[in-house]
Order: sequence, then structure tokens, then C-alpha cells
Amino acid sequence: MAVWVVIVAAGRGERFGGPKHLELLAGRRVLDWSIGAARSVADGVVVVLPAGEADRDEPGADAVVAGGATRSASVRAGLALVPDDAEVIVVHDAARPAASADLFRAVVAAVRAGASGAVPAVPVTDTVKLVEGDRVVETLARDRLVFVQTPQAFAATALRAAHATASDATDDAALVERLGGTVVVVAGDSRNLKLTEPADLARLEQAVR
Ligand code: CTP
Ligand code: MG
Repeated sequence: MAVWVVIVAAGRGERFGGPKHLELLAGRRVLDWSIGAARSVADGVVVVLPAGEADRDEPGADAVVAGGATRSASVRAGLALVPDDAEVIVVHDAARPAASADLFRAVVAAVRAGASGAVPAVPVTDTVKLVEGDRVVETLARDRLVFVQTPQAFAATALRAAHATASDATDDAALVERLGGTVVVVAGDSRNLKLTEPADLARLEQAVR
């Protein structure tokens, strides 16, 4: 089964204060950590970059393309460059440089075993409440909630169908779920943090070492 990975790095990095995929983390660019881990499962890698950067070659990438206005639009831009013979497509945020090769392998294995999609999940440790304005409506049952990460792997047909219309969601699994696809969770990694703010850099530096 041919596996392709789409790495999205076309965000504006507003909360970080700049293009975080180019930031150095333990001596390598944030983006390079993801490309390296993706290579452990990938027959091909597509990197989605901000429009101004998409005209250059990326070491380790088979194709580079400019992203869109939303994360989902950027995934679609990457998906358009994935060859038709890819059977499993993995989508990963460049903003998660500490995702391990094992995590990539785990989500791909779950799709090979028959799921439409597979996402890494970690337990929710805080109490979560549903609110309307400042009023608490409900306290949610924490044992049924998980935090979800990338890489997320999909049967190519399911991911392409989910992105066939210009839908938007905070992750790709949500689009596959909307079409009734079976999405399963695999054990996520608490070190697989997302680089959102400058303060995340120090913890990520530890995680990648
Ligand atoms: N992303 C993208 N295209 C967009 C928006 C986001 O490729 N139009 C990518 C980001 O580059 C990142 C991932 O999606 O790797 C997750 O997004 P996020 O962490 O929110 O990054 P940014 O959107 O860049 O940050 P911010 O929301 O603070 O501007
Ligand atoms: Mg964003």
C-alpha cells in the first residue's frame, strides 16, 4: 500500500509571532523534524508552504505547493499533488515537530487494518465544562473525552471524499466523520506538543532531544 504524507506549514503563526516552521529547534528547522519522521512511513512527502515560500525546493520533500486561507484549504492544496495510486494518506501539522516515527507507523497501521481514519489521542486531564456565556451548562464526562493530535492517517478514498467539497474543520478526521467514516484512536504521545506560542519552544526542545 503506497503511503503519502502531506505536511501543512502554510499558517501565519500569529500566536507565535512569525513563521514557526522555520524556527530552529535543537539545530534543525521545525519543519525538518516532521519531514524526517514522516519519511519513516512515506513513499512520498508533500509540503504545503506559505505562498511566498512555495517556489523553492524543500530537502526531503517530493513536492512543494502553496497553501490556502484555512488549514483545510492548505490540506486540499497538498492533496492535489498526491498521486492517484496512494492508498493511505497521512496529514501532519508542521507545528508538531516532536511527532515520532513510531506515531506515524501506528496511525498508518490502524488504517491498514481497516479504519477509514486513525488519530493519536491522549487523555483529558482537566475538568471540561460546557458554557453559554459565563454560565455553566454541563460538566462533561472526562473519561470519554480525548485530546487529538497529528499525524492523522486515512484511507485515500475517504480523505479525498471528505475534501471533495470546500469544507472546513479544525482537523481532517472531523471531515471524514461527517461522511460517516470510521475513525479510530491510537495512543498519542504527551511529548507530541503543538508549537503555538513562543513558550512552547523550550518544552519542544526537550521533547525532541
Ligand atoms: N496551517 C496551514 N494553512 C493555514 C493555517 C494553518 O497550513 N491556512 C497549518 C500551520 O502551518 C500548522 C497547522 O496548520 O502547521 C496547525 O495550525 P496552527 O498551529 O494554528 O498554526 P498557524 O495557523 O500558523 O498559527 P496561528 O493560528 O497562531 O496563526
Ligand atoms: Mg491557526
